[in-house]
Amino acid sequence: MKILLTGGAGYIGSHAAVVLSQAGHEVIIFDNFSNSSRSVISRLENILNKKIVCIEGNICDFALLENAIQKNQIEAVIHFAGLKAVGESNAKPLEYYANNVQGTISLLQAMQATGVKKIIFSSSATVYGAPKYSPIDEEYPLSATNPYGRSKIFIEKILQDLAISDQSWSIVCLRYFNPVGAHESGLIGEDPEGIPNNLMPYLAQVAIGKLAKVYVFGDDYQTLDGTGVRDYIHVMDLAEGHLAALAYACRQTGFEAINLGTGKGSSVLEIIKGFEVASKKTIPYEIVGRRFGDVAVCFAKADLAKKKLGWSAKRDLSDAFKSAWKWQNLEGK
Ligand code: NAD
Ligand code: UFG
Repeated sequence: MKILLTGGAGYIGSHAAVVLSQAGHEVIIFDNFSNSSRSVISRLENILNKKIVCIEGNICDFALLENAIQKNQIEAVIHFAGLKAVGESNAKPLEYYANNVQGTISLLQAMQATGVKKIIFSSSATVYGAPKYSPIDEEYPLSATNPYGRSKIFIEKILQDLAISDQSWSIVCLRYFNPVGAHESGLIGEDPEGIPNNLMPYLAQVAIGKLAKVYVFGDDYQTLDGTGVRDYIHVMDLAEGHLAALAYACRQTGFEAINLGTGKGSSVLEIIKGFEVASKKTIPYEIVGRRFGDVAVCFAKADLAKKKLGWSAKRDLSDAFKSAWKWQNLEGK
């Protein structure tokens, strides 16, 4: 199939581009490179050994999207494009709503105008707010603690309304837990600007000597070792989840929201220890106070993905650490 990947040059989109392309789909990337590098495209071409069509543009540009969909005879869209930094969303809510919500509406209007009605949307476990228990299933009530999270909930609601209004749409919202790792080639991976907010890219930069130590946000949670527990999922497993969701969208209409996680939680200290083994480096860390807004434990109930998509995560965390370390060591990225 011909698939438009909005945000396809980003961390998750680029890995999905590899998986989809290797499964025989033709991927067309649409990205404004606001949070990614143009060099991702040539590195993807290197991995896939073929040319990739890439359109530089903003999803808020209806006319450009409509043209891109028509010209490339797009049959389905996987919508990764969005801003994703929680802290920044508190400081710039309008930018987040304009980019994420308005951008999605513009994309959906372009799809409607061209008769393309299959979409997979990058949602997030953030839609569960501060969950009171784990594993979290898809029926858990949605809430948000910041504009980024709210933008995901708004988009899910818009998609749900759309599916009700026109039953020929196939819409799958994938609620990602914590994506980590990189493609085994080490040619693509997570490439945050400035000091990373998330644990894995932060500790990779400590391991390589760019940052001095990891600050562990709290060791007084009710968990095995007192540090926060999350569901870390290998980005290649996540990418394969999109392939499965696409197949699902081709055989089913309507709206579905599905968790993509492993169903297992790991603590911050377990992650640090695991990364030390993979990188053969000692990772200095210091326990500091809890980070505002963090919950103790958050991991997925992953049964629905298995049931509906026939998908479950296969890779273990050591694969994620090894590939992330290889990526961290890539020169000139
Ligand atoms: P990313 O920032 O690496 O990729 C997003 C891509 O979208 C970037 O290449 C960026 O340039 C592009 N983009 C942003 N706004 C755009 C616009 N208006 N027009 C065109 N392109 C635009 O992020 P990612 O980690 O790959 O995340 C992809 C999606 O998954 C996002 O929607 C994010 O909210 C969601 N998500 C990510 C995580 C995570 O931890 N990485 C977790 C849950 C959900
Ligand atoms: N942590 C540290 N030190 C750091 C960074 C993180 O101890 O420097 C801890 C956090 O307190 C948490 C765990 O490591 O216990 C994971 O934190 P991340 O920031 O990597 O990930 P979060 O679970 O907080 O959030 C991420 C995204 C959210 C998304 C969520 C689920 O930032 O937007 O995953 O997908 F909603």
